[in-house]
Amino acid sequence: MASLLSKLGTLYWFLKRPSFWAHAISLAYRKLQKVNDHGLAITAALDWAKTQAVSSKQALVNLAFVNPEENLPQLGAEIIAKAEEAVSRASSVRMGGGGDIQLLYALTVLTRAQRVVETGVAFGWSSMAILAALNEQQAGKLVSVDMPYPKMDYEKWVGLAVPADFQSRWSVIREPDRFGLGKAIALLGGQIDLCHYDSDKSYSGRRYGYALMWKALRPGGIFISDDIEDNLAFRDMVARLKVPFAVIECQGKYVGIARK
Ligand SMILES: C[S@@+](CC[C@H](N)C(=O)[O-])C[C@H]1O[C@@H](n2cnc3c(N)ncnc32)[C@H](O)[C@@H]1O
Repeated sequence: MASLLSKLGTLYWFLKRPSFWAHAISLAYRKLQKVNDHGLAITAALDWAKTQAVSSKQALVNLAFVNPEENLPQLGAEIIAKAEEAVSRASSVRMGGGGDIQLLYALTVLTRAQRVVETGVAFGWSSMAILAALNEQQAGKLVSVDMPYPKMDYEKWVGLAVPADFQSRWSVIREPDRFGLGKAIALLGGQIDLCHYDSDKSYSGRRYGYALMWKALRPGGIFISDDIEDNLAFRDMVARLKVPFAVIECQGKYVGIARK
């Protein structure tokens, strides 16, 4: 009974939000089809990511962002400490964790990206790292897409890691990718320099988001995806597109980078 009531509550939550319907239909479709987006593919994806992984420095040398003798730009310890302090205020809130913030910062600085889109904000570690780079170069805008957790009242905690002085370069679209991502790209004029995917981790969710982001990237633009060990979506994308890519290990998870 409790489970039925909870399901009805979730249904009602989605029904009240028309911009979430496309996402809800895709979830229902996955359930009906019994599509197992993870399952066996996890082992294959993890094995593939492990065999591809190199250090951040090697990845950026391989993709021609830096020379072997150059040091990578580093996000300052003070900014990270401030973000940690802010996030510690919400110690009881459980949201998805951040990815490789040093990598995101370094890539944004090295490419002088100005039009950046990301999916998945939660506490906003990735947003903070990208915005720190945009703030330093005093140019650029980040548009993030983040679907609120259904029935959880977490809105006020989303983006907690982002300091107030970065906010002027930031817009957050609080909708699912299947509605919000197109809007985010349009807000930046239809073309972007860098994108970071860290939202719907299913194969079908990634296929949808990856394709939109890749299409919007300018030639030479940078595609970054978190948690590529979840399934084979990143491997399949780079194989299909035949583009230069790199894989980096970060705290037992894997980040994929591709250059258009
Ligand atoms: C792993 S967390 C993001 C972590 C963040 N990038 C960071 O560095 O702190 C994933 C976030 O994506 C959001 N999300 C999950 N599915 C989504 C979807 N289909 N569309 C948009 N956001 C989604 C979740 O609500 C959550 O806030």
